[in-house]
Amino acid sequence: MPESSAVRDVSSVLHPFTNPSSHERGGPLVIAKGDGAWVYGEDGRAYLEAASGLWCASLGFNETRLAEAAYRQLQTLPFMHLFTSRSHSPAIELAERLLRTAPSPMSKVFFANSGSEASDTVVKIVWFYNNALGRSEKKKIIARKDGFHGSTVAAGSLTGIFRNHLKFDLPIANVIHASRPHYYHGARPGESEEAYGARLASELEQQIVDEGPETVAAMIAEPVMGAGGVLLPPRGYFAKVQEITRKHDMLFIADEVICGFGRTGNMWGSQTFGLRPDMLTTAKQLSSAYAPISAVMVNEKVYEVLVRGSEEVGTFAHGFTYSGHPVSAAVALECLKIYEERDIVERVRRLGPRLLDGLRERFAIHPLVGEVRGVGLMAAVELVADKRSRKRFDARLGVGEYCMNKALEHGLVLRALGDSIAFSPPLIVTEAETEMILDRFGEALGATADWLAGR
Ligand SMILES: Cc1ncc(COP(=O)(O)O)c(C=O)c1O
Repeated sequence: MPESSAVRDVSSVLHPFTNPSSHERGGPLVIAKGDGAWVYGEDGRAYLEAASGLWCASLGFNETRLAEAAYRQLQTLPFMHLFTSRSHSPAIELAERLLRTAPSPMSKVFFANSGSEASDTVVKIVWFYNNALGRSEKKKIIARKDGFHGSTVAAGSLTGIFRNHLKFDLPIANVIHASRPHYYHGARPGESEEAYGARLASELEQQIVDEGPETVAAMIAEPVMGAGGVLLPPRGYFAKVQEITRKHDMLFIADEVICGFGRTGNMWGSQTFGLRPDMLTTAKQLSSAYAPISAVMVNEKVYEVLVRGSEEVGTFAHGFTYSGHPVSAAVALECLKIYEERDIVERVRRLGPRLLDGLRERFAIHPLVGEVRGVGLMAAVELVADKRSRKRFDARLGVGEYCMNKALEHGLVLRALGDSIAFSPPLIVTEAETEMILDRFGEALGATADWLAGR
């Protein structure tokens, strides 16, 4: 008898962001194929994939045009790098397209392969920029608690989910974390959203002053904090934050790895929330995740200093073998064409409210539901122990995870971020599938309530 792939997996694969001992006990869910918003296990079971994998498979799981774009490029030019002035047309065309759509004027695009590499790239650029300007003291980068920017050494340091730092000797020097914007839990009794946002912004400014503004170089922020629990910025917060970063001559960086390409109901989360970044990182939906690719856009102010600094060094000595890989670039280009042809942003504006209003209408009154929040086609339902006092569950209970697993039993893939259950279906999800997401989540929530009642 051949061994099952589950057994082979357990004996061979070290999984990212997975508890190894529970994995040894429970094994993997092996997915064999995809179709639209659905994926199928090896046993043929169908799952409605309402997490888009990891917020990324925007066009679902079998868009043939993307497969064909990859195949065409593999046959024409499967590889060429961009080092030492080499180039190829997929990278050029993709860079042009990205610059045309950027939410604030951008000058150049640097390609990498993942959100983490893009984050590492902006950290290096911030440091290089200030060294080139002769400001060797100005190096600290502010990220936010519960922000997620990746898991390589610099990106993992920017990430403010502190469990990710434990035992890895992170964060590295020159990364500091500001408060997370979470109105539901963070506001004082009676504090309006605007007042809360203004308070956080003034706390940020105090932090900069305490550190010494001459030492603080940049701030990075996700327009909506994804992995931190789908946390929306309080009204007025980003306007104030950007005023402060400008005042202290800091660069402002938008991490659009999740928000980019329609997720929030505009092409960029920066447009939804009024951000004017100096640099922007993006990945995931850039290629609908069909091929690994990420991009960093830099504005002219940054680019011009990079040119001068590189002149002194002799080159801009940063990059990856697969920066702008032609196959990934060709897939991303095709993906962006599809977004335009199918007016994906319009689609999100139409379907987003069906999901979010549906969650609110059906579940906001549920005794376990503290808050339903979201924008566009990203949403979260936060489960709490006490609705009135907003008291959280003991994390060891694993309530969010229980609910997520129950949803899976009902053929629905969701993601538990602590006790917030995140929804980010492919942008091609249909109205009928959106209803199905609500129905199946309702089953999972009911089962979670029964389980808690029985304890
Ligand atoms: C906002 C954000 N930035 C960066 C990353 C890191 O991307 P990657 O996993 O491709 O390195 C992620 C991943 O989820 C993310 O959500």
